[in-house]
Order: sequence, then C-alpha cells, then structure tokens
Amino acid sequence: MTGGSQGRFLGVVVDGSLAHGVEVRLDAGTSVEEVKAGAFVTIQGSGHRFFGVVTDIALGSTDPRLKHAPPGMDDPFITQVLQGTVAYGTVSVLPNLVMPVALGDAVETPVAAKTIPPHFARTHAASERDVAAVFGNEDERHFWIGNPLDMEAKVCLDLDELVKRSIGVFGKSGTGKTFLTRLLLVGILQGGQASSLIFDMHSEYGWGAHDSDGKRFAKGLKQLFPSRLSTFTLDEESSRRRGSSTDDVVRIGYGDIEPEDVEMLRETLNMSEVAASAAFNLQQKFGQRHWMSQFLNMEGRDAIFDLAAQIQVQPHALGALYNRLTRLKRFEFLAEKSERNAADRIIEHLERGQHVVLEFGRYGRNLTAYMLVTNLLSRRIHGRYVERKEQAEGGQGRDPRPLVIVIEEAHKFLSPAIAPQTIFGTIAREMRKYNVTLMVIDQRPSGIDSEVMSQLGTRLTCLLDNERDIEAVLSGTPGGRQLRGVLARLESKQQALIFGHALPMPVVIHTREYGSPESYAQLVKRAPGRQPHQGTETPEERLEREIAELF
Ligand SMILES: Nc1ncnc2c1ncn2[C@@H]1O[C@H](COP(=O)(O)OP(=O)(O)OP(=O)(O)O)[C@@H](O)[C@H]1O
Ligand SMILES: [Mg+2]
Repeated sequence: MTGGSQGRFLGVVVDGSLAHGVEVRLDAGTSVEEVKAGAFVTIQGSGHRFFGVVTDIALGSTDPRLKHAPPGMDDPFITQVLQGTVAYGTVSVLPNLVMPVALGDAVETPVAAKTIPPHFARTHAASERDVAAVFGNEDERHFWIGNPLDMEAKVCLDLDELVKRSIGVFGKSGTGKTFLTRLLLVGILQGGQASSLIFDMHSEYGWGAHDSDGKRFAKGLKQLFPSRLSTFTLDEESSRRRGSSTDDVVRIGYGDIEPEDVEMLRETLNMSEVAASAAFNLQQKFGQRHWMSQFLNMEGRDAIFDLAAQIQVQPHALGALYNRLTRLKRFEFLAEKSERNAADRIIEHLERGQHVVLEFGRYGRNLTAYMLVTNLLSRRIHGRYVERKEQAEGGQGRDPRPLVIVIEEAHKFLSPAIAPQTIFGTIAREMRKYNVTLMVIDQRPSGIDSEVMSQLGTRLTCLLDNERDIEAVLSGTPGGRQLRGVLARLESKQQALIFGHALPMPVVIHTREYGSPESYAQLVKRAPGRQPHQGTETPEERLEREIAELF
C-alpha cells in the first residue's frame, strides 16, 4: 500500500454508478454513528486508489421482515448479533479523485475520477496524510485557508488558480464572509500573484474593526502588512477617528462623473430610464468636463425646462434628473473641481505593486455613494488596464500586474438587469483577458446574474438558508445536488463550503482562525524560499519589523 498509514477500515463497496457514487456496506465492527456526512474516505480498487466523500448514510437489512417485526430488543446479545449481519449500515460515497501512485520522489497530484471502484473494494476512513496529499501543503503557491471538519490536515488554495478567474464569497449575515475575505486577501498578498483593490464598504479591511457583537477588534491588512498596503479614504474624519493611517484622501470632481455612472444609480436614486439617459444629452451639449457643474448650477424650473427643449429631452425627466443629482451634492467627497484624479493615484500605487484599500467611512452606509465611487473608479482603472494590455500585446511595455477588485453587496452591481451594461459585468465576462478579475462578496447570491455566477472560478460559501440562494451558488457545479444538504447544514459561523478551480474537490472547512495574536503571527510569516517583494529590506528584517509593529 502506498502512503503507509491509513484510517480505520469501514467496509466494502456493494453497489454504485459513476453518476451517483458508490454504496459501501459498513463492516460489522463499524456503527453508522461513527461515520459522518462530509467525511473523507479512500477506496482501494484493483488499479487505483480512490478518494471520496461521504454524502449519505442509511440503514439496510437483508430481511424485509425486520422492519415489520423487529426482534425483541431486551436481550442485548440478540441486538449485537443482528447488527452488522442481518441489519447493517451503508454509506454513500462520491469517489471524486484518483490518488497518485507514489513513484519515487515525483510529486503528482490527484486527478478527477472518471471511473468507480469495483465490487467489494475495501473502504477506509481517509488518514490525515491522504487528506494532506489531496488538499496540499502550505507553500508559496498554496495558502492554508482552513481545515476539514474534525481533521488536523490543512486545506490549501492554489493561489495561481484562485486569481485567474473571479472569486465569490457568499453567506448570510454574520457567518464569516468578512473574515474569510481577509484571509483570502492575505493569501493573495503573500503569494504575490496579483494586486488587490478593495472597495471597503464597512471600513474593515484596511484598518480592522470590531466584530459584529462589538467584543473583539480584528486587525486589518494595513496593520499586518503596513509596507505593502496603501489606504485611501473617502471620509477623512472617520479614518482619523478610528486611528487609521491613511495615505491619501479621495476627492471626485464633477467632471469625472460620466453619464454611465448616473445610469448605474437609477435604482438607488429611484429614477426612470428616460431621466437617467438625459445625462447623455447634457454631456453632448456641455462636454464631459462641464455637463454636471453647468447643470447643477442652473436655477429655477423655467431654466431647466428651457434647457430640456434645447436638448430635446422631456422636461419632467430632466427635472427629475436635476432633483436626483442635487442629492449628490451632500457627499463631501464630491467637489466641483478636483485637481488630482483619484483613479490615477490609485493606479500609481497598484503599479508599484501595492495593494489598495479604499475606506468609505460614513459613506459606506449610503449605497448610492458606494456604487457611484466603486463604478466610477473601476471603470477608469479597467480602462487603463485595457490600454496597457493592448500596448503590451503590440510590443510596448509589460503586461499590467493582475488585479483583483473586491466589492461588497455584489448583487447591486451585478443584477440581471444591469450586469450586461456595467463595468463589473464586463470584467466578469471577459475573464482575465485584461488581467482584471473580481472578488464579489454577497449575502444574496440569487440576486446576481446567472451568467456572472457561472464565470466565478472559485466559490466559498458560508451558511445560506434561502433555497434560491443555495441554488444560485451551486448552479453549474458537478455534484451540486449532493452539496445542497452540506451547505444547508453548515454551522452558523466560521465554516464554509469551498469549491472550484483553486482546489481539487469541494470541501467543507472550519475557516482558519483570524483575530488572535498567534493567528496574526502565522499570517505575516512568509512561506519558505520566497523572494523579498520589493524595497531594500530583507524578508527577515521586514518580518521582524512587522511583528514588532503588531504587538
Ligand atoms: N475565521 C474566523 N476566525 C475567527 N472568528 C471568526 C472567523 N469567521 C467568523 N468569525 C466570527 O464570526 C463573526 C461574523 O463574521 P463576519 O463579520 O466575517 O460575518 P459576515 O458574513 O461578514 O457578516 P455581515 O454580512 O454582517 O458582514 C465574527 O465577528 C467572528 O466573531
Ligand atoms: Mg461582512
């Protein structure tokens, strides 16, 4: 037997199919109570060793009379004799993978199973070592994200695969999405596969925040990696109050707002299509840099109605647009004139290899503000990436460093109605053609356009209890039916079902601890053998400094 140690013997295969998995009859010595749904098993076929997961557990008997006339149970001896012989337990197993045969020192990875083990193949509980062989060892490409339930082995994500396509983090409120996202971002930051740009709605990624019950403070990424993260803020006061060290304050000029940005706000500003599209007519009349300031500087109904006639827009629609855009004036981050372009400055930091967090402060509670800024900046930044990429393809300059854009409340940006037109729909659909991908965080995945969902390469989902949300998250996933029950039975915190490109098969994890001093110390430690990211500090020096700054 390869790999040496294996878990306890469970029983033998007695039935099955590739589509539905195999049935294992439990050995007389194994009680059904000892096997849990979601547990990993290995099955020794004649040529292959399979690795799979328990999807169901059942009771069977060889004698149909047993059900109708159970024997007298007063005598423990009779019970004992019947159990495991006439009456027995079965478990359903989905054999997902074929384990590599250890050939000398060659490192091989498990491959997807395209067949099933034969009758009477012996089934064992998977050992820690089997699980480690499947879910990887922590190294510079593999990030430890959590552990399978009841096991010590680590589940590691393949970071290269993770950032190649967009990522989804789901779960109902308070289940651990933010914590899981912090971990993913640490992984990407440490792995160096991409830069990240985080639109930090609740100001919890840059400088950290108290947890939902207000008891504990969880550090943000700026506190863990001060030299590699730049923080921008929309709300200087809030950032200062929270002691967050910000690198720059974002101001957006009226001239930066395009009619497309206004269109995205139709729903949150409760505006008709006609009213929103009048912005295009205004742009045509006054020019991009001036349309908004000229328009908002107008006074009186008559002036607006006159203008409506000139630009051939329904007067009431233009009136409605005026009224809605006037509401934006109370956002202090908007200025009639802004000398420095926020998108340019963010791009400068990203190009230096920095990760960027934009803290929204009090504006995070205002969906209009969040969507306006997030759309506007992402469109500009994506535009720049497209330019860079095309130049690189034409032989000028280098490919832009891959970028992951992180957004919360993703369904607001990616609902079926608006996904086809928004920048986020575009980014999701073009995959990583221009080196930009998304990380979407959401508690209502059923509100996201199904085409966008199908583009997510890796999905991580905490507990969901709404049927439609569960269906949306699992749609298009092989074995989705079997995973439904697993997803609905997760614990309400710090557990997640994860599946997709970044790992060999779906797995339920207890999410890695984030928030204790030990967890921080482990997270800032770099994987062995990695080169210094930039600057003149050696990795050891930086590690020492960063840990010193932590405590
Ligand atoms: N990996 C973890 N390590 C430590 N604590 C965790 C972890 N995951 C979740 N928790 C606990 O669960 C609580 C809720 O997690 P989190 O704030 O991430 O939920 P959420 O899904 O983002 O909620 P919301 O939808 O309200 O934003 C945290 O305050 C923390 O106490
Ligand atoms: Mg959250």
